[in-house]
Amino acid sequence: MTVAKTLAVALAGVSGRLVEIEADVGPGLPGLTFTGLADVSVVESRDRIRAAVMNSAIEWPNKRITLALFPADVPKIGSRFDLALAIAVLAATGVVAPATIADSVWIAELGLDGSLRPVRGVLPAVLAARRAGVRRVVVARANCAEAALAYRPGGSHPSAPEADASANASFDVHVADDLSQVVGWLTGRSAPPERATAHETEAESSATPDLADVAGQQLAKRALEVAAAGRHHVFLQGAPGAGKTMLAERLPGLLPRLNDDAALDVTAVHSVAGRLDSQSRLVRRPPWQAPHHSTTVAALVGGGSGLARPGAISLAHHGVLFLDEAPEFTPRAIDALRQPLESGEVVLHRSQGAVTYPARFQLVLAANPCPCGRRERDCACAPNTRRRYEQRLSGPLLDRVDVRMYVDPVPRGELFEERANESSADVARRVAKARATAAQRWADSGWSVNADAPGAFLRQDRFRLSPRVVAPAELGMERGQLSARGYDRVLRMAWSIADLAGHVTPTAGDLAEALFFRTGRSGSVAA
Ligand SMILES: Nc1ncnc2c1ncn2[C@@H]1O[C@H](COP(=O)(O)OP(=O)(O)OP(=O)(O)O)[C@@H](O)[C@H]1O
Ligand SMILES: [Mg+2]
Ligand SMILES: [Zn+2]
Repeated sequence: MTVAKTLAVALAGVSGRLVEIEADVGPGLPGLTFTGLADVSVVESRDRIRAAVMNSAIEWPNKRITLALFPADVPKIGSRFDLALAIAVLAATGVVAPATIADSVWIAELGLDGSLRPVRGVLPAVLAARRAGVRRVVVARANCAEAALAYRPGGSHPSAPEADASANASFDVHVADDLSQVVGWLTGRSAPPERATAHETEAESSATPDLADVAGQQLAKRALEVAAAGRHHVFLQGAPGAGKTMLAERLPGLLPRLNDDAALDVTAVHSVAGRLDSQSRLVRRPPWQAPHHSTTVAALVGGGSGLARPGAISLAHHGVLFLDEAPEFTPRAIDALRQPLESGEVVLHRSQGAVTYPARFQLVLAANPCPCGRRERDCACAPNTRRRYEQRLSGPLLDRVDVRMYVDPVPRGELFEERANESSADVARRVAKARATAAQRWADSGWSVNADAPGAFLRQDRFRLSPRVVAPAELGMERGQLSARGYDRVLRMAWSIADLAGHVTPTAGDLAEALFFRTGRSGSVAA
């Protein structure tokens, strides 16, 4: 009786855990049985691995084989265990020597012909293997580029080849085409499969729309700049055709590129969702997600059967989630955003256990002032109708929005005026500087952007602004134009405006501008 062990990785959300597979070959009726909480999808691999082995001209043992997967409490879903299961069987029957497979992790599906097929989420799986101290991972060729991203040292600078080399000294990703190649290698009949090499492959989306395309709208553009600087959520209200969608689409282009840690996190989510580009490049630009208001709750926050897939809010992790025509989203969808907005992640409860995906996104809401969709002057709806429309967003969403802009259409003359507008890159430079200032200021506080600074914190001694600076906001409160919550929002924005201007603390002018973004309009009407 022989027992052989191999390693694989189970994924729950974007966190992977090593799974040990044991194959036991013993006397009794020929057949293959599973123990240890293998999902039906794993049990289905029985026929696949048998066919793959036989079609690779390797004899299938005519014996009783038991396969066990540990630890028992980790849900093991999908075809990603095929290769590890097949190798375990071959080791137990003596086709390959157990010593040759020690310290290796196998992550691939098997085709009936024995070919290695790619799996979703290979990046988080390989990262998990690497963090667990495993020395070697074997993946299908189609997963090569993505798996090689795991060579990157998360958290250090991308341009540090020495650090890269030492960190990878004892970690290799190997790429194979089929099972017979792997077995040839393990039995010493052929050379090891090639080592995946990391390319400088960064997704550089060229099609990011530029702020320079927007005529006029100086105030709305400025509001976007402030929002980008402090990572404030934004609410754009205004008549049809005013340019709300156009403006919102330009926010990602103002945000700083993702650092190594964030890029790996975002790429891992997109990998699990099967949304990486054909070259599996690292996602370096803050992502943009604009789900339609008819979207299902599962598509918005994640779900689906089997391995719960990430939804738009997780695909927007470290980027922008845009809800166009926001009041048209169902109350259930809007409610489902409450917890992720609070915690920066979403917990999906499945029959196999809870799955957590990251979901720290910057929210942009756009809405017409009225469900009739007419311009204000043509709208004959009752004031109540308009109020109720906006109230659909109240509570969970609007509670967290700092920047609120009323966007008026630019006058026809301005639209056709030839003027050199500032580009997104120009604004992004200021934003990056402001972000760095804020991150330094909040370094000891547990957050890094102004939007995350609690109001109480900004009102206490160390960050309290002088009475002269906050006077207009206090007046607004006295007059009932500004709520206590609104006051805190004004403070948060004032810090972002100060960071953009290079002021050590917000000036009276910075505060006045923040107050405007709470109560003003993009046209000439100021509150
Ligand atoms: N300031 C502007 N500069 C250049 N083009 C503009 C501007 N404002 C509007 N447009 C043009 O008008 C079109 C409509 O703008 P957009 O779709 O952004 O408006 P909207 O406010 O989102 O409208 P709706 O409420 O109907 O969704 C844009 O595609 C663009 O061609
Ligand atoms: Mg629109
Ligand atoms: Zn109306």
